[in-house]
Amino acid sequence: MSTLQTSYRSSMDTREELRMDPIGESMSAPSSPYLAPEPDESLGVDDLSIVLIGPDAERRHAVTRALAKCAGSDICAFASYPPSLDDVPRLLDQHHDVIIIDLDSDPEYALDLVESIGAGGSATVMVYSAKPDPDLLVRCMRAGAREFLTLPLEPGVMEESLVRAAARRPVVRVTPPASPTSHKKTNGKLLVLMGAKGGAGVTMLACNFAVALAQEPNQKTLLIDLDLPFGDAALNLGIISEFSTIDALQQSERLDGSFLSKLLFKHSSGVSVLAAPGRFQPYQPTNEGIDKLLSVARQAFDNVVVDVGARFDLTGTALFREASTIYLVTQAGIPELRNSNRLISQFFNAGGPQLEVVINRHETRLLGVSENDITKALTRPAHWKIPNDYASVRRMQIEASPLVLGDSAIARQIRQMARAATGQAEAEVKKKGFSFFG
Ligand SMILES: Nc1ncnc2c1ncn2[C@@H]1O[C@H](COP(=O)(O)OP(=O)(O)OP(=O)(O)O)[C@@H](O)[C@H]1O
Ligand SMILES: [Mg+2]
Repeated sequence: MSTLQTSYRSSMDTREELRMDPIGESMSAPSSPYLAPEPDESLGVDDLSIVLIGPDAERRHAVTRALAKCAGSDICAFASYPPSLDDVPRLLDQHHDVIIIDLDSDPEYALDLVESIGAGGSATVMVYSAKPDPDLLVRCMRAGAREFLTLPLEPGVMEESLVRAAARRPVVRVTPPASPTSHKKTNGKLLVLMGAKGGAGVTMLACNFAVALAQEPNQKTLLIDLDLPFGDAALNLGIISEFSTIDALQQSERLDGSFLSKLLFKHSSGVSVLAAPGRFQPYQPTNEGIDKLLSVARQAFDNVVVDVGARFDLTGTALFREASTIYLVTQAGIPELRNSNRLISQFFNAGGPQLEVVINRHETRLLGVSENDITKALTRPAHWKIPNDYASVRRMQIEASPLVLGDSAIARQIRQMARAATGQAEAEVKKKGFSFFG
């Protein structure tokens, strides 16, 4: 039988502790305007460890009742927010899978909580509100919440959210960091995007791919713009960064995790960015400088996404030696395919790095070039086909908002690339009720 744990297991000592009866007959009939009919069976989420933080008793009871019907025994409820964000690491030390937070009691503080929980651990963060508003919903998403539950809860909504949370759990649980600054455990993935020709779409893809990765649970992600000196990832993301990749490369001898962190711009989507310089600054990086930067970055991040533009003079660096995957971005025009063919033959045959070819601006009807021609030129089928959608890309540029945060054919493809890169199986859950990334 499901049981609500009765106390905080962390030392958030000033909070009111909840004393709850085990769920059963004694809890079978609380009346609440937020209560909706409950689902009648568990959907395989029995071993989720769940924390509920709900200062408002009525809303909290509505949520606990819904949880009790579809989750297992490890549910811990709190009747107040942690007094300070400094308490969050202790909460994360408990290894919970799901943390559910009441938004309405103090929306600003709740958002801060969502952000710090999302930044520090792998738990799926959900929020609930009885008066949802679209602005708040977007801010929650940006802060890292994965589910927005609207009270009263529709039947099945809690159940489905927990199924998605269960699917998101890392296959092997990563031990959470001892402190927010000592996050990393093993080297992160190095994911390199390069163009077969200038203008192929590397930057558009790199930015959105990195944002999509950062939105996945437990995927601390850094985007490095190595397309020097003109890289425009910052422009695509609408950010102005004080420091640049050149600052990191120029001082590679003293570069470590703490120094690197000071050079980064934290985008609202969660991705960290090491931008190319905003003004023209001629600079020729050394292979050693690049290797050091990548090494330090991979110690601090789960994913390091690198935009190298259309340059192939960096093949002597860790970019080629150590990449988990190199994404060769091309278009289906004759010059791009010709370049792709030459590059693949030279760099990616027999024993080269893992290659995935991305056809950008793909159209099903390509004048004069058949799918067969493309496969022949690439010497293999393309792994990814990103549709040609000028309107969506243009909107992203005008609004400086990553298109992967919205819904479009391009966004769906890029999100799929990101999920494949993290190795996470896609949860085949039918969408019912609201989910940010359902
Ligand atoms: N899938 C797409 N659909 C429509 N337009 C696209 C798509 N991808 C990229 N574009 C357009 O192509 C232009 C070039 O894209 P982007 O800057 O990402 O290419 P790049 O490979 O980084 O170029 P560069 O070599 O200059 O760095 C962008 O201005 C964008 O408008
Ligand atoms: Mg570019």
